[in-house]
Amino acid sequence: MRIRPRRLRYGEILRKMVRETRMDASSLIYPIFVKEGQGIMEEIPTMPGQYRYSVDTMGKKLEELLRAGVSAVMFFGIPGYKDEIGSGAYAEDGIIQKALAQAKKEYPELYRITDVCMCEYTSHGHCGVLCGRDVNNDETLKLLAKTALSHVQAGADMVAPSDMMDGRVAAIRDLLDENGYGNIPIMSYAVKYASAFYGPFRDAAGSAPAFGDRKGYQMDYHNSREGMKEAILDIKEGADIIMVKPALAYLDMVTRIKDTGNVPVAAYSVSGEYAMIKAGAKLGYIDEEKIICETAVSAFRAGCDIYLTYFAEEIAQYMREGKIG
Ligand code: PBG
Repeated sequence: MRIRPRRLRYGEILRKMVRETRMDASSLIYPIFVKEGQGIMEEIPTMPGQYRYSVDTMGKKLEELLRAGVSAVMFFGIPGYKDEIGSGAYAEDGIIQKALAQAKKEYPELYRITDVCMCEYTSHGHCGVLCGRDVNNDETLKLLAKTALSHVQAGADMVAPSDMMDGRVAAIRDLLDENGYGNIPIMSYAVKYASAFYGPFRDAAGSAPAFGDRKGYQMDYHNSREGMKEAILDIKEGADIIMVKPALAYLDMVTRIKDTGNVPVAAYSVSGEYAMIKAGAKLGYIDEEKIICETAVSAFRAGCDIYLTYFAEEIAQYMREGKIG
């Protein structure tokens, strides 16, 4: 037989030599939840092994990440108060602003990214200001841009809008530029689907909408072409990186954008993906380590350049141990 695909599968050395997907820990971003208060380290019930930290306790986790080789973190805030207009999102002494200042001071080597959205800060839990029962897109843009600017002023290295309002990348880009922050990149959650995979996150952040759902702004998961429309629009508005979210059930979109766009692609393995693996492993139905490795590699094989995951530390370790990468 002339062509025997199995010839290249004999032995670990050869298998690694011909490996098509290469990755390392510099592509990983860890999402962290920071909560108003002191001395807090609460485990999130629907995300075992993940915690809400206060500004004074998050350092331990940041150190651990840096030691593991994970040098980028995405900050999510859980504020002390919520109101109709989400003012905690852009308050000078807001939770994210305080966390950023502290992280910048204590861990300057850490790359600080922030999630820019209103849903954790609004009393109604929607991702913008309301007009009746709908989110007022254009009014929300001003507040999102204001939030992004306040994050950068507090020490963010990159901002990542996740609200799915139309025109938000341009609004943020313009305000950052006007204020002399032309070099701060925007990673847009451009291809974000209305997904049940965010369930555990909404428990973690207390950000579930008080009425209705997010289908009026997040995308219908039957659609692929619409995802391309969002990605192309955001690139035109100045997005430096395009994110697909969730990851596992949307790898087709990762590949499509990688093949068509001219920007790095990020995939966010969201809370529900984490919870499913944890639950399955706890029940003894699956091998946790092997499943983490396989799902992480699947995202890179699909074409992502950047991978956001609650398993960042574990994945960095498995890479170091040569199990993947
Ligand atoms: C919005 C936001 C959400 C997530 C990241 N940013 C929740 C949502 O859109 O409802 C979800 C992340 C996850 O599930 O891990 N601020």
